[in-house]
Amino acid sequence: MRQIKFDFNNMFSFNIGRKHGVAESDLDKMSGIISKAHNHLKSILQHKRNRINLQLEWQTLPWQNKKTLFHIQKLGNQIAQQFENVILLGIGGSYLGLKAAQDALCPAYYNEFPLLRKDRPRIYFEGNNLDPQTLNPLLKNLNPKKTFVIVISKSGETAETRAAFAVVESWLKKTAAKFYGRQILAITDPESGTLRKKVQQEQRRDPLSFRNLPLLKGVGGRFSEFNIGLLHLAIIGVKLEDVLSGAQAMAKRCSSPLLFKNPAYMYAALQTILYKQKGKSIAILMPFSESLKPTADWYCQLLAESTGKKYSRRIKVSPLGLEEWEMDTKHIVNVGRTPIASRGTNDLHSLQQNNIEGENNKTITFIRVENFKNDITVCGRADFLSGKQYSKLLCLALDATEWALVRESRPNCTIIMPQVNGFHWGELIFFFEMATAFEGELLNINAFDQPGVESYKNYIYYKLHKPGLSAQVVREIKRNPLVKKREFII
Ligand code: PA5
Repeated sequence: MRQIKFDFNNMFSFNIGRKHGVAESDLDKMSGIISKAHNHLKSILQHKRNRINLQLEWQTLPWQNKKTLFHIQKLGNQIAQQFENVILLGIGGSYLGLKAAQDALCPAYYNEFPLLRKDRPRIYFEGNNLDPQTLNPLLKNLNPKKTFVIVISKSGETAETRAAFAVVESWLKKTAAKFYGRQILAITDPESGTLRKKVQQEQRRDPLSFRNLPLLKGVGGRFSEFNIGLLHLAIIGVKLEDVLSGAQAMAKRCSSPLLFKNPAYMYAALQTILYKQKGKSIAILMPFSESLKPTADWYCQLLAESTGKKYSRRIKVSPLGLEEWEMDTKHIVNVGRTPIASRGTNDLHSLQQNNIEGENNKTITFIRVENFKNDITVCGRADFLSGKQYSKLLCLALDATEWALVRESRPNCTIIMPQVNGFHWGELIFFFEMATAFEGELLNINAFDQPGVESYKNYIYYKLHKPGLSAQVVREIKRNPLVKKREFII
């Protein structure tokens, strides 16, 4: 079986010069910190309690219990046979991986044409915004009797998902009446949280309602596609085994301590050198494939929430080898590369001008797909494009983009994907997860929390009088109101 490859030639000084490129001696200088990071990750992963407490249990997801997978695959097939539409409600880590899988692994225009869907349900993603423009028209046009709803929220508290679920639930109730809950499935924390409580209540009323799947402990939202995303994959007809065996293959490669054998470590090390030593603080991910654009969106969340941190990490180790990570509040670092999701060739007609001639403060990661399931040959004979295959033109456009960037000393690298299918997509997702975890180690921050997203949430909760806010949070919001001078709004 062929595997994903990582081509990092254009990150090096022999191609883009010493001012903007990495030299092998830079990697040599980092060898100490790289092996320290490797040994640290390895030692945490050996302890289940460490993995769970520190949110690293996602590393075990490629190897899941076969019975569980069989159950999910079967459940997905049942839902697919019974319903014409599935609405998935969730945001952030409870949405982006599923949307990425949808576009990568289903044909374009899947929802529009039953032949493309192979008679599987249409899929709609909602609850990922508070914009009122989308949910209403959707519900007005779907038949509730033919629609299944999957609500995904670890906490059950997230405003976007919670609000959308309330609306969709009441829409279902109107037609399906007493048994409406049989058309709902919840993916949530196995024990706690508002959504779990709701599941328990509803099941007391009707034991066949609110079927549910647990979110595994120790897996944060953005690392959870191989957990929360499985039912969605099963509904759209993807073999779970294919995706997970791709993830396994990548996980094996990413367990090597040797940089030149471990694509995720190499990716993280090169990006970190270019970030810390050459000021490349912007990370553009540009798949040359329309179907992988949502995968780039997913990566934006992964990188931004994992590495965008104010404080560095302080590690405490118990005599049993259990670790606790704390924010070192005396040590403000404000680190993290800023991710941008892009796509070729579309963005060659927009972002590329800045990539080539704007500030040299970014790295660009391409994803090159070697084989497409469908290809088109341009018709006619007279034109320079005549008789050329789209896939070849796309490939040429990527060669040309690399060349143009190298001419201007712009660091770039390429992930080479033999084909966009379940196996290679599984590899790709695990590659990015591992690279991000390793980048977090190299920066010495906690890559598995997201304290920065709490403050806006707290502000919303305060304004909406949500019970349970701490006195300290309330005091902070009261003392620091937003200042809006009228003369500053023109
Ligand atoms: O990565 C994360 O943890 C977040 O993006 C969450 O997934 C997101 O905020 C949604 O949270 P929840 O699943 O609790 O609704």
